[in-house]
Amino acid sequence: MIDVILGLQWGDEGKGKIADYLTPNYQVVARFQGGPNAGHSLEFEGKKFVLNTIPSGIFRKETINLIGNGVVIDPVRLREEIGRIINECPDYKDRLLISQKAHLILPTHRILDAASENAKGDAKIGSTLRGIGPTYRDKIGRSGLRVGDILEADFNERYRKTVEDHLKQIEFLGFSDFDLAKEEELFFSALEFLKTHQLINSEYFIHQCIQEGKKILAEGAQGSMLDVEFGTYPFVTSSNTLTGGVCTGLGVAPKYIGKVYGIFKAYCTRVGSGPFPTELDNELGEFLRQKGNEFGATTGRKRRTGWLDLVALKYTCMLNGVDELIMMKGDVLNGLESISAATAYTINGNNTDQVPANLCSADITPVYNDFEGWSEDIQLHGGFEKMDQSFQDYVAFVESYIGAKIGVISMGPGRDETLTR
Ligand code: GDP
Ligand code: IMO
Ligand code: MG
Repeated sequence: MIDVILGLQWGDEGKGKIADYLTPNYQVVARFQGGPNAGHSLEFEGKKFVLNTIPSGIFRKETINLIGNGVVIDPVRLREEIGRIINECPDYKDRLLISQKAHLILPTHRILDAASENAKGDAKIGSTLRGIGPTYRDKIGRSGLRVGDILEADFNERYRKTVEDHLKQIEFLGFSDFDLAKEEELFFSALEFLKTHQLINSEYFIHQCIQEGKKILAEGAQGSMLDVEFGTYPFVTSSNTLTGGVCTGLGVAPKYIGKVYGIFKAYCTRVGSGPFPTELDNELGEFLRQKGNEFGATTGRKRRTGWLDLVALKYTCMLNGVDELIMMKGDVLNGLESISAATAYTINGNNTDQVPANLCSADITPVYNDFEGWSEDIQLHGGFEKMDQSFQDYVAFVESYIGAKIGVISMGPGRDETLTR
């Protein structure tokens, strides 16, 4: 069976930390969508790593890590990423498998990303500029290049044709701030590096694992509110970030999906543009940003911050079929006198507990429930029942609002700052 861990908010929930924490229970960890727009942070034994494309199981020596067909890969960034982990994982090549069907992010995809953001002006998505949107656009438009294509004799010819087409688009967008020759030199040397890895037919690999009764963990990237179908469109990423994406992103039937872990922060963040009903664009928001170190793991950009949005959280739990919740970063709220969470939206004078079809045009005022805060020095290590009553009440309220248990609580970035209930 394949268990799934994915983000229920706007990304950066702490998926990397928890995927690493859960990995000892699994033989395989697989990424099924997204690409180097992701930044998954892990901390253990005083070391810190940020992963973009490589699954977060890589640091556990027994685990196979698969970059699935649904992922988009930038060979240049992947090589850099491997450079950051090679000392910790000298054996990584034995444990890293890459789908031949994963699409390649070309240098011109990155340039196109910048060109289209530039052309959008104030309406820009705030993309990570990693070329994600243009790469998925080519995939759906049937003109993409895939990892397996680099092994074919006509790769260079197909690459040139694609680049010619991209350059026309870039010119049309009036963008000229790039040095393609330099980018291509890096790209082609990174392709040679990529060829030295295990490039496989990954759907067969996954099925063999399932047949052998191995346990697989699918690690989501981004968050459910950034899903291209159900997120705050058009301020979304270009992939299916939900449980459904596991089936197409790895090539497995729904009947093989096991437990779905949904991960959320005890408050909310978002990076990039788009609606954020519970945003705190004030001193308190700045406090959460500083205390929670809410700066992008990939881009260093400031993350916007706000109170927990239970309306959106319930929506994404519904879409994903979440079996168990994982709550992160409760420690960031330590010492606050009072904490709020939105339990409904007021739109045109009416209250609703549903996310409207067009969140972007709706004029939303959140309805908040207020909670007594907990102490600054609250401790995990005595167990949940020994934690402040007000913390237990907050957890219980979320569980009853959503209708799912919070099985894991994280109160710090390290592996050991985690409680399984
Ligand atoms: P991901 O993209 O979902 O993997 O999350 P990121 O790594 O982008 O962002 C999560 C950030 O919060 C990272 O800097 C983590 O080290 C940190 N983090 C994770 N869990 C906790 C926690 O419980 N408390 C605190 N204070 N930080 C955490
Ligand atoms: P992880 O996996 C937070 C956001 C971008 C932008 C929008 C589209 O670390 O949680 P894209 O580059 O995908 O075209 O950008 O999505 N975004 C993320 N926000 N965490 C992420 O990944 C994100 N990946 C993309 O900021 O608003
Ligand atoms: Mg992140």
